[in-house]
Amino acid sequence: MVLSRTLVAASLASAVAVASPLQHQDSYKRQNATACAQVSSAVKAQAGVPTPTVPAALAYDCITSTPFKKDAALKLLDSIAPYFKWQSNTVWLKDPPAEYAEKVQGPVDIWGKLEEIKVNVESGKYTNEFAFGYDLYSLSQSTHDGHFVYVPDSVGGIFNWARTIPLVSVSSDGKELPKPYVYADILTESFGNSSFKPSAITKINGEKATDYLEKWAQLGSLQDRDALYNNVFYELATVSLGPVGSGIGTFAGSGRGRWPYPGAKTALEFENGTTAEFENYAKVLISFTGVTDGESLYDNYLTGTGTSTVASSPQNSTTPSPTPSATSTSLPAPGYPPPVYREANNLIGGYYLEDEYSDIAVLSVPSFVSLESAEIPFQQTGEKFLAAAKAAGKKKLVIDLSANGGGTILQGYDLYKQLFPDGISHAAADRFRAFESTDLLGQYYSRAAEKIPRVYVTEEQNATLYELQGNIVSTLFNYQTDIDVNEKNFPNWAAKFGPGIEQKGDKFSNLFRWNLSDVLTPFNSGGIYVHGFGNLTNGTQPFAAEDIVVVTDGYCASTCTIFSELMRQRAGVKYISLGGRAKEGITQAIGGVKGTNNYPWSYIQFLAQYAIETLTDSREEATKLNATELGSYWDNTPFGRAAAGTSLNVNFRDGIRDGDETETPLQVVYEPADCRILYTKEMTVDATAIWKAAVDSAWGGKSRCVAGSVGGYGKRSVKREMSIQDKVYSRSVHQWRRDLSSEQYPLDVFTDLKGLDLNRRGIMWP
Ligand SMILES: *[C@@H]1O[C@H](CO)[C@@H](O)[C@H](O)[C@H]1NC(C)=O
Ligand SMILES: *[C@@H]1O[C@H](CO)[C@@H](O)[C@H](O)[C@H]1NC(C)=O
Ligand SMILES: *[C@@H]1O[C@H](CO)[C@@H](O)[C@H](O)[C@H]1NC(C)=O
Ligand SMILES: *[C@@H]1O[C@H](CO)[C@@H](O)[C@H](O)[C@H]1NC(C)=O
Ligand SMILES: *[C@@H]1O[C@H](CO)[C@@H](O)[C@H](O)[C@H]1NC(C)=O
Ligand SMILES: *[C@@H]1O[C@H](CO)[C@@H](O)[C@H](O)[C@H]1NC(C)=O
Ligand SMILES: *[C@@H]1O[C@H](CO)[C@@H](O)[C@H](O)[C@H]1NC(C)=O
Ligand SMILES: *[C@@H]1O[C@H](CO)[C@@H](O)[C@H](O)[C@H]1NC(C)=O
Ligand SMILES: *[C@@H]1O[C@H](CO)[C@@H](O)[C@H](O)[C@H]1NC(C)=O
Repeated sequence: MVLSRTLVAASLASAVAVASPLQHQDSYKRQNATACAQVSSAVKAQAGVPTPTVPAALAYDCITSTPFKKDAALKLLDSIAPYFKWQSNTVWLKDPPAEYAEKVQGPVDIWGKLEEIKVNVESGKYTNEFAFGYDLYSLSQSTHDGHFVYVPDSVGGIFNWARTIPLVSVSSDGKELPKPYVYADILTESFGNSSFKPSAITKINGEKATDYLEKWAQLGSLQDRDALYNNVFYELATVSLGPVGSGIGTFAGSGRGRWPYPGAKTALEFENGTTAEFENYAKVLISFTGVTDGESLYDNYLTGTGTSTVASSPQNSTTPSPTPSATSTSLPAPGYPPPVYREANNLIGGYYLEDEYSDIAVLSVPSFVSLESAEIPFQQTGEKFLAAAKAAGKKKLVIDLSANGGGTILQGYDLYKQLFPDGISHAAADRFRAFESTDLLGQYYSRAAEKIPRVYVTEEQNATLYELQGNIVSTLFNYQTDIDVNEKNFPNWAAKFGPGIEQKGDKFSNLFRWNLSDVLTPFNSGGIYVHGFGNLTNGTQPFAAEDIVVVTDGYCASTCTIFSELMRQRAGVKYISLGGRAKEGITQAIGGVKGTNNYPWSYIQFLAQYAIETLTDSREEATKLNATELGSYWDNTPFGRAAAGTSLNVNFRDGIRDGDETETPLQVVYEPADCRILYTKEMTVDATAIWKAAVDSAWGGKSRCVAGSVGGYGKRSVKREMSIQDKVYSRSVHQWRRDLSSEQYPLDVFTDLKGLDLNRRGIMWP
């Protein structure tokens, strides 16, 4: 294998030096006649294996032996440009506030980079399709806006890269800065052989380990660097989500670690002087039928017609069905104690703690729903658990948002309203880019909606009306959906559209909010109403704000950030951030995209085509509308050329905090947590160790915060009388802990979104 360390370093550097993704083209200059044939035979030899694997270097030699076809590349670039216009924060990404640029991420010029790639295509700079595809992927990735993503077929459709060794980053005592370890070593020490003392990793591929890992972390989806660092590692919360989460961490090839090439091998050096080397591998995602070389790989799979591609979404799938279907089987959640209630996909779960912590309830919320069938069970799990916790006399609530990349927007509002029924129902307003497409859509959808009653019916009651409600009436482009910042209805489309403010050369709509009383809420929520609205009456507030503390791993994105804005700004609940880089100081608790709505490109295409074909009154009108910017969404190239099982998204709505006169998108606002707690070994095998550290810091009088504090809450009256139920639950926790073994912790949980409905909004897919 000729792949060397320099190649690895070069490809990393290329991805890290985001301002100039094109400077390391040399690393792609490989033409290899036999590599793809070798992959083909390796796949044949693994007949029956669901996902065959090959050495990473072999896969790399194969994918970089594809030809580069200039015309096809230009066609792809031209076809994606219309969708870029929908990205709400382009001008802010290009020119972010100084504090964001200093502490979070530097500026990125989306349009400039697109032009740069085009110039490279024209000038013959790319020698193979992967080199081009990876630059295009890096364009979206480098924005660190997790909603803005395009993964070309060559990057995510043929191979996913992986390493055999998931890592964790832990502090020896909760105070010393964290060091990276091989997770299997921690498992051995914890469950196998307690006289075995794992040694920390000092170097990776010859480079200082923490430097290497920080650079690798930068290839992830989040904006916050400490959150990105956490996402490199094995984490119980991400593992509990199975294939819809970022699994065992980006270092090992889960989440967005599946797309950057990790090099042929990973060489580790440990504190005790030992060295070890591991061959990296690639998962082969296609059958390789008919592939004998790079040319035939291209012809069969990279032309937009092969099976590795996603189809343009059917119109219906953009309308969530209010009726959930099939219940799913339970996923394992290693390291989590026996649940009081847990949704079958582990999207939400309620737990108690044992013994002297038995006054504590814990609501673990690693998602705001990524699966249609989970909408109603998710809401019910929260409801049932909070009621049960109150009934059982629990005094304090820990909410664990680790791994939460968002989900259904209105589930975020709902959980907040379950906790604070009397709380103000909004903390930020929304807006979108005001330009020709959004204006025209608003005019046509609003006009059509005025002729249809805004009443809720089910599909069974009236299928025609149901479809019109889903496709027209309940959409944002009907001015009757949403209310203004003063909670008044908009009188017409122009009042909603504006344009309101102009910033840095872009125009934006007027600010607006969700109308939580809307009868059509189930169309935008996957079937629920929000507590206190519709047919769901207000409950009583289960816990006082000072009896609640929230912990996160920083991954919190999208709907999770909407929920957190309500919790922090309105309820004043304190937030603890876990882990982070091996650096002193406070970190952010909310490190993922704070845009308040992603739009799948397929939904944008649907909106435009539907307006032209269905919402016009005559052929002439259709032709006229087709000649506007709305006519630029017919080309299916972006969908054909995207990797299967990946999302094509823009961030459509900015969140603007109430009272912020500058109208700065929350995405570019830096917000430190109240307290930072470091991960310990125990926290990587037993989630209760995280929750207890949060409890001790908030109410126990022994703070574990290495920066900031959640003090001032007063101490718990520790030795309370345990009820029979407390004792029974405590015994079950002890039993669970005794039964833990290293086999329960899978080392192969990888992100796999194939077959899922990726048309959801309010989510950052891993
Ligand atoms: C082609 O790829 C194979 C498999 O990775 C490798 O063994 C061989 O050295 C490569 N040949 C060239 C010329 O790079
Ligand atoms: C336990 O670990 C110690 C120290 O690494 C080693 O000497 C010993 O052989 C191990 N025992 C078993 C049963 O693996
Ligand atoms: C050094 O540490 C590594 C990583 O924990 C471990 O695998 C190895 O067995 C240790 N070597 C010695 C000689 O103890
Ligand atoms: C929507 O789905 C229904 C049934 O699932 C189908 O009959 C109908 O043709 C679809 N409509 C569109 C516009 O795709
Ligand atoms: C269903 O809704 C449509 C559109 O509003 C209406 O024209 C039709 O009369 C309704 N059908 C029934 C059976 O109510
Ligand atoms: C919200 O939605 C309801 C029901 O669709 C509607 O009656 C009301 O006018 C809307 N606006 C406000 C400000 O409540
Ligand atoms: C719920 O409480 C809020 C605030 O107290 C109130 O405005 C609203 O009318 C209540 N809604 C219901 C359905 O009880
Ligand atoms: C409330 O509305 C939802 C959505 O339409 C429905 O599924 C649910 O059955 C209703 N609940 C009650 C108590 O009427
Ligand atoms: C709109 O224009 C596209 C070509 O840009 C064409 O394929 C499509 O048929 C046209 N549709 C209508 C309804 O005019």
